[in-house]
Amino acid sequence: MQIPERGLSKQEILSALQAFKSHDMDWKAGRVWCYVYNPGQDPAEVMNEAYLSFLTENGLDPTVFPSLLKLETEVVRAVIDLLHGDSQAVGHLTTGGTESIMLAVKTARDKARVERPDIREPEMVLPKTAHAAFHKAAHYLGLKPVAVDIDPQSFQVNPQDIQKAITGNTILLVASAPSYSQGVIDPIAEIGKIAQERSLLFHVDACVGGLHLSFMRKLGYDIPDFDFTVPGVTSISTDLHKYGYAAKGCSVVMYRNKDIRKYQIFACTDTTAYTLINPTVLSTKSGGPMAGAWAILNFLGEEGYKRIIKIVQDATQELIAGINAIPELRVLGRPAMCMFSFASDTINVYQLADEMNKRGWYLQGQFATPLTPRSLHVSVNYGTASNVKALLKDLRQGVERVKQMTPIDSAGIRTMVEAALQAPDPGAAFGQLAARAGLTGTDLPSDMAFINEVLESLPDEVCNVFLVNYFNDLYV
Ligand SMILES: Cc1ncc(COP(=O)(O)O)c(C=O)c1O
Repeated sequence: MQIPERGLSKQEILSALQAFKSHDMDWKAGRVWCYVYNPGQDPAEVMNEAYLSFLTENGLDPTVFPSLLKLETEVVRAVIDLLHGDSQAVGHLTTGGTESIMLAVKTARDKARVERPDIREPEMVLPKTAHAAFHKAAHYLGLKPVAVDIDPQSFQVNPQDIQKAITGNTILLVASAPSYSQGVIDPIAEIGKIAQERSLLFHVDACVGGLHLSFMRKLGYDIPDFDFTVPGVTSISTDLHKYGYAAKGCSVVMYRNKDIRKYQIFACTDTTAYTLINPTVLSTKSGGPMAGAWAILNFLGEEGYKRIIKIVQDATQELIAGINAIPELRVLGRPAMCMFSFASDTINVYQLADEMNKRGWYLQGQFATPLTPRSLHVSVNYGTASNVKALLKDLRQGVERVKQMTPIDSAGIRTMVEAALQAPDPGAAFGQLAARAGLTGTDLPSDMAFINEVLESLPDEVCNVFLVNYFNDLYV
C-alpha cells in the first residue's frame, strides 16, 4: 500500500481490515488446535473491553501510571500464590513465554557473571523437549545450550542424564511442565534435588501448564509437584495468554526471591534522556495486556477456571481415546493435561494434516527427531472442546483418503537433499529444492506435506539457514 493522501473513513478501514482475514483459519469456530485459547464469548468480551480501556497507558513509568503497577502486582501475586511461592517470591508480567524465558536466562547469566566470574562460556542444561525459546535465549545472550536426550517412550528427561551433562560451566537447569511437543511433565522434583546439590539455578517452564495444572490439582487430578513447592526450583514462567485465557501479550516470570530477580532489572542513567529503569525487555509497553489478564482472572475466578478445565480435560480424554481407536494413529506418551501429539506407523501424517486443512481444521506438524517420530500436535482449549466429535469424524475420513493417495517418496526426497548437500554450489541446489518445495517468493505455501518432508530430511543447521532465507524473502 501507499500511505493515502487523504485518510480513509472508519468504515473503509474496518472493512478493509476484516477483508485481510479472509484467508485466515477459522479459530472462532474452534477449528485451530493451537495458537488460540478462547475462553468463550462473555469472558472474552469483558477481557477485550478491559484491554482496550488500558491500551494507551504506558508501563514504562509506574510513577505516571500507578494503575499499571497495581495491576501488575496484583496479577503477579495471584499467580505466585497459585504456584505456591511464599512471601519472598517475586515476579513480573512480560509479553509472552519467550520473553519470560529470555529474562530467566538473562538473570542466570548475569548472576553467574557476578558470582562465578571464572565461567567464560556459561552453559544451560535442558531436555531435548524444552521449548525453542531457550535456544533463542542462548543465542541472543551468549550461552551454550546443552540439550539432553529424552526417553523415547515417556518423552521425559532422565534426571541422571541432566546430572551427567552438568559441567563446571553450567549455570542453569531447565525442565518443562509440560513440554509443548508431547505434553508431558519432566521429573521436576528429582531435577530440583540435583539443582540444590550442585547449587545451580533451576527454571521450570510452566508457560503452558502453570494455571491449567494448578487448577487440575485443585480439582483432584493426580499432578506431580512442579512449582515452588519443589525445593531447588528458582524460577518459573507461566503464560497468561495460553491456558490463563488472557489476551495475547501476557506471561509471568517468577523468582523464588529478590536476590535472584535483581539480575533481571536494567537501569540506565548514562544518556541525555530520561532515567530508564526496565525490569523486562520492553520499555514502552501498553497497559492493555495487564488489564486484560487482571480482568480474565477476576471474571472467571477459580470457579470459572475449574469449570473450563473440567470441560477441556473431558474433551481431551475423548479425543485421545478416539484417535487411539483409529488403527493407523497413536497418541504419543501419557500427556499430563490437554496438549499432546499423535503419530502413525502406516500413513504420512503430513499428508493427513493437509487433508484436514482442506476440511477447515488446523493440526500442526512436528518434525521427526532421532528420539521422536513425526507427529501432529493438538492443544485442546475451551474454544475447541465442543468440536471433538466433528474432528474425530474428519480424522477418520482423512486417514482413509490419505491411504488412497500416492505416498510421498520420502526416500527419494532424502536422496535429493543429500545430493544438494554435496553439490558444488549448495546454495543454488537448495534454491532449486526450495522452489520444488514451494518455499520461494512471497506467496505462502498451501500444501505442506512435501515441504515438511524436505525440511525434515535436512540437517538442523541447514534447515535453519533455509528457513531464515525463506523468511528473509517473505517479508518486506
Ligand atoms: C512450553 C512452552 N514454553 C514457551 C513457549 C513460548 O511462548 P510464547 O509463544 O508465548 O513466546 C511456548 C509456546 O508455545 C511453550 O509451549
